[in-house]
Amino acid sequence: MTQTIEEISPSARSLVAPPYGLSHDSAVSCKQVTKEFGTGENRALVLRGVDFDVRFGEMTLLVGPSGCGKTTLLSVIAGLLDATTGHISVLGQNLAELSGSESVTFRRKSLGFVFQQYNLLPALTAAENAAVPLLAAGVPRKRAVDQASAVLSDLGLEHRLRALPSQLSGGQQQRVALARALVHEPRLIVCDEPTSALDHETGHAVMELLTKTAVRNDRAVIVVTHDSRVFDFADRIAHMDDGRITRTEALEEARLTASRN
Ligand SMILES: Nc1ncnc2c1ncn2[C@@H]1O[C@H](COP(=O)(O)OP(=O)(O)OP(=O)(O)O)[C@@H](O)[C@H]1O
Ligand SMILES: [Mg+2]
Repeated sequence: MTQTIEEISPSARSLVAPPYGLSHDSAVSCKQVTKEFGTGENRALVLRGVDFDVRFGEMTLLVGPSGCGKTTLLSVIAGLLDATTGHISVLGQNLAELSGSESVTFRRKSLGFVFQQYNLLPALTAAENAAVPLLAAGVPRKRAVDQASAVLSDLGLEHRLRALPSQLSGGQQQRVALARALVHEPRLIVCDEPTSALDHETGHAVMELLTKTAVRNDRAVIVVTHDSRVFDFADRIAHMDDGRITRTEALEEARLTASRN
């Protein structure tokens, strides 16, 4: 009996025939993505035709002035907001082909986020907050909390595992949010200002952990940042202005050029 591609794997069709010029060799591929908020007089076109590619095995920084659309772009890539027009492929999956529930499952399994406002659950301890993606995936509670505690310990929070978010400093809350993004070893990690509340040493440790954990051949990391200390960790920097990616530079090439001059 011959099976159709859809019967073998519902998402396989998009792997065979990437539509709209999307690249499925990329971890993320955005083509002419727009996002509009509001209607009538309140209408605001925040993404104005974004073309953006993120390669596997790389850490890509997204930089640009406040209000240029960085968080909106991350939210659209992460499937938390729907694009108004345009096409987005994430880890080979065309987002438009996912139903609401498929999108939730895809996000839970494959994506890790660090939000600009950490979004921790106030009634859960640090370890429980960091364990949320594992609990959502059905991992038994003790194992999930133990795994989350190990990641928190790597981030220097072994003494605060049982603290509630309200009992943690901003930098500590930020590290709990980061642990929650890493704990289930997602293939795409998306971080919005992950070092903004951290001192130099802790910020460095966080970027090292992100690099070590996330940058493998089948993975990718996107970091939005205003923090120039983070630039040393990047493979590529995408510059955004007024709702568009204006240029992308590969750091290795930039470093080589600088060393020749
Ligand atoms: N839900 C919304 N409704 C209306 N406008 C919005 C909404 N979310 C964002 N905006 C507007 O879209 C623009 C881009 O916002 P966004 O949060 O993406 O910027 P950003 O580049 O992340 O800025 P920052 O560096 O300050 O975090 C801003 O002008 C903002 O006011
Ligand atoms: Mg933002």
